[in-house]
Amino acid sequence: MPTKVEMEKIVSLCRRRGFIFPSSEIYGGLSSCWDYGPLGVELKRNVKQAWWRAVVQERDDMVGMDASILMHPQTWVASGHVEGFSDPLVECKSCHLRWRSDDLEGDNCPSCGGELTEPRLFNLMFKTFMGPIEKEANIVYLRPETAQGMLVNFQNVVNTTRKRLPFGIAQIGKAFRNEITTGNFIFRSREFDQMEIEFFVKPGTDKEWFNYWLEERLNWYVKLGIKKENLRLRQHAKEELAHYARECYDIDYLFPMGWAELEGIANRGDFDLVQHAKCSGKSLNYLDEETKEHIVPYVIEPSAGVDRSVLAVLCDAYDEEQDEDEIRVLLHLQPSLAPIKVAVLPLSRREKLVAVAKKIYADLRQCWMVNYDDTQSIGRRYRRQDEIGTPFCVTIDFQSLEDEQVTIRERDTMNQIRIPISELKTTLQAKMDGESLLVLPPGGKIWKIEREEG
Ligand code: GAP
Repeated sequence: MPTKVEMEKIVSLCRRRGFIFPSSEIYGGLSSCWDYGPLGVELKRNVKQAWWRAVVQERDDMVGMDASILMHPQTWVASGHVEGFSDPLVECKSCHLRWRSDDLEGDNCPSCGGELTEPRLFNLMFKTFMGPIEKEANIVYLRPETAQGMLVNFQNVVNTTRKRLPFGIAQIGKAFRNEITTGNFIFRSREFDQMEIEFFVKPGTDKEWFNYWLEERLNWYVKLGIKKENLRLRQHAKEELAHYARECYDIDYLFPMGWAELEGIANRGDFDLVQHAKCSGKSLNYLDEETKEHIVPYVIEPSAGVDRSVLAVLCDAYDEEQDEDEIRVLLHLQPSLAPIKVAVLPLSRREKLVAVAKKIYADLRQCWMVNYDDTQSIGRRYRRQDEIGTPFCVTIDFQSLEDEQVTIRERDTMNQIRIPISELKTTLQAKMDGESLLVLPPGGKIWKIEREEG
């Protein structure tokens, strides 16, 4: 059964609150291209940062890199993309809409029922020209995956970092595919971001490392706050395997349209290094210091989509609660992912109160992304923050001028504590790190209990 939220609600929230807009909207949009707005860019950055932290910063067997999008065109000959990165395309003879034939259930056009042409292969790589002359010899491709940038740099990384097997290279960056069928919001677009790892291992240890990465990557999504029951592993059947893959699993998420791929984890064997060595004439061997033999490492590749992770996080966090006669929309984002961590809300616009509130606002901004909001009732302001997933609201009232204390309200429980302003930063940090709201700093008190902590 698909997740309880419908895609329209996610699209509408993203549009309304500035997470994601259609690309070049004032010109009518550009099919399957999207612009991340002020909140979306923060959420996306936080997802990328969580990945980088888990796979690069916290590991000593991984290094990062950032390769250029345009690569030598021979790269794509060696990798098999020029020859084989194609989808079977059919066209309706009546309405001329084009479809991927392997996506179709019947033999006729899903739009008008018309007769379809025979399938022909359509290469998904975008082409452009290097330099001022648009001729065949100057064709370069916008990379369809970030992977090759790391694979062709294998020897550079070994030589400059002295990493020994097993070790990996990680990269986050743009990829481009001229997809035939797009849709489901940011799930399948023509320009997207990937987070990829090429993990180099000794042949013979590849199965063990493949299993390791399956578990590691599945757990990463759970740590991100995605519910376990909305995730699954799916093994590729033999006929489904990409040309380079010996074995492959997808990590699927239960999106509103059903189970679909979040990330692919493939055992690429020695396919890429052998191919690049052959086409470039450069040795990509590795000297095994134990056996003194030259070997070609095998590659385990966990390859995730940033945009699909963002979409899964949004779908999983979305919630609606009946609150008296209103619906409270909220995003249960964990603090590390929330675009805005804290909202500062003065109860009035009176000068003395504003001065205190603005000082707190300036102070907290040194640590986190913070919103300041002094328009409309406090209830409405809380709702606005709930809807964008802000975990904590700090309210400054007239009593704050006397007792130098403020209240912290937590998004999910709506419980409140009141604490000294001098304790605010350390208390907020502790709550973001997972401490219960009801653990109080010196001088703090419980202010309002709306519900039990879950
Ligand atoms: N290097 C291997 C590779 O690129 P892939 O399964 O084609 O493998 C990896 O892509 C991930 O990139 C997918 O699991 C998905 O998250 C993301 N991805 C692929 N095509 C996409 C598209 N058109 N729009 C958004 N994300 C996409």
